[in-house]
Amino acid sequence: MKVLFVSNEVAPFAKVGGLADVAGSLPPAIAERGPDIRVIMPQHRSCPADEECEIALPSLSVQSPGQAHVCQVLETRLPGTDRAAIAANRALRFNADVIHANDWPTGLIPAFQSLNPLGLPTVFTIHNLAYQGRFDLSRAAAIDIDPASKAMRLIEHGGQINYMAAAIRCARIINTVSQRYAREIQATAFGEGLDGLLRERADDLYGILNGIDYDHWSPVNDAEIAATYSAGDLSGKAKCKCALQRELGLPVNPDLPVVSAISRLVYQKGLDVLADALPKALGLPIQFVLLGTGAPALEDRFRALAARYPEAISAQIRYDEGLARRIYAGSDIFVMPSRYEPCGLTQLIAMAYGTVPVVRATGGLADTVSEHDGEQTGFVFTCLDPSDLAAALGRAVRAWHDSPRWRTLMRRCMRQDYSWSRSAGAYIELYEKAAGIRD
Ligand code: ADP
Ligand code: GLC
Repeated sequence: MKVLFVSNEVAPFAKVGGLADVAGSLPPAIAERGPDIRVIMPQHRSCPADEECEIALPSLSVQSPGQAHVCQVLETRLPGTDRAAIAANRALRFNADVIHANDWPTGLIPAFQSLNPLGLPTVFTIHNLAYQGRFDLSRAAAIDIDPASKAMRLIEHGGQINYMAAAIRCARIINTVSQRYAREIQATAFGEGLDGLLRERADDLYGILNGIDYDHWSPVNDAEIAATYSAGDLSGKAKCKCALQRELGLPVNPDLPVVSAISRLVYQKGLDVLADALPKALGLPIQFVLLGTGAPALEDRFRALAARYPEAISAQIRYDEGLARRIYAGSDIFVMPSRYEPCGLTQLIAMAYGTVPVVRATGGLADTVSEHDGEQTGFVFTCLDPSDLAAALGRAVRAWHDSPRWRTLMRRCMRQDYSWSRSAGAYIELYEKAAGIRD
């Protein structure tokens, strides 16, 4: 089985959010199970310099109406994979059995493959249905599509070009990144205008939970954190907490729980509701740390909260993976009040670092965090409302003050296994279905 995996972002070369983590860690997990899988992405400015890559193809001509673009295909190896980079001409003769395309930037691939009688079968993964790649119909010529053609009917939705809709119509198999989100997006409330199309494809629509790479996200060997620790020996976590409080200029106080959020600051993540809840939640009392970038109004809101409560709130408005690691390790409680969440990786990473999540019951958050006795891994609230969020934080803080209970909870979180071992096999089954090798 040969698979060409296409993503606009791949960690560690270029990352905006969780898609990059997935594109950097799922293909190696699939390769371990046998398939030959190659990942292709655009060469963004943050990608490795040319000299770190081999030239797989010195000159590739890509036609678009009125002009031909000449580009180069460079090749490098994902860290952690031991498959050698392939020689240039072999790369060209890869002859994939299946193309696995991810999110709207790759949405035209299933459409064009389905229009070509020799087209390859495609699997399309929806990581976030809200970002659809919508463009004015007048842009059709720019992607070489005749407005009167069959292709136009495949890519048009609601009077616009819509890459996500095209992929949902044309991919042989569709999946999203948790079972709950796979169900949610078939209803109007989460369907972002595409629920009708998704219901039509319900028989070919699957939910496969994301995993994380525990070699990359582990307090046992994280070089960025003040002290390493494990479920068996948690002592290093207290050191990480002091170091974090010191680094961020908060009072160094082991007796206050540190609550954190690491997130894109966008509507999806519900952090506006957290900002509403914070003044009340500070009475618990807690310290709160935010790391994120996004909507300027929300960035300003968190800056203003930090200025108003300098002893209790730190707002770090930037993208910084090292600090993200020190926050995962140094905080006690991780909060994620998402309006919707296809999967969410940050709650999984937080759990790996023994930082107990407080989440809203939606999408992958509902599939990965439980507040039930005996299997509790966090605190869950349903209604996206500042008082429900503050109440869930209150339950978490009360539990934190009960040290034996909290240690049990931390250890249970750290022992959860969200490695790719389960899900990589499920993707291979989808590739086989797409290729017609299995029903
Ligand atoms: P999404 O893809 O919707 O942004 P995920 O939870 O799937 O959400 O993944 C987010 C990823 O981005 C995680 O690896 C998280 O650690 C990282 N991240 C988000 N914001 C920042 C930031 N400001 N600095 C560093 N890492 C960040
Ligand atoms: C998206 C989603 C997030 C998911 C990530 C990787 O960005 O917002 O929930 O974890 O993709 O699939």
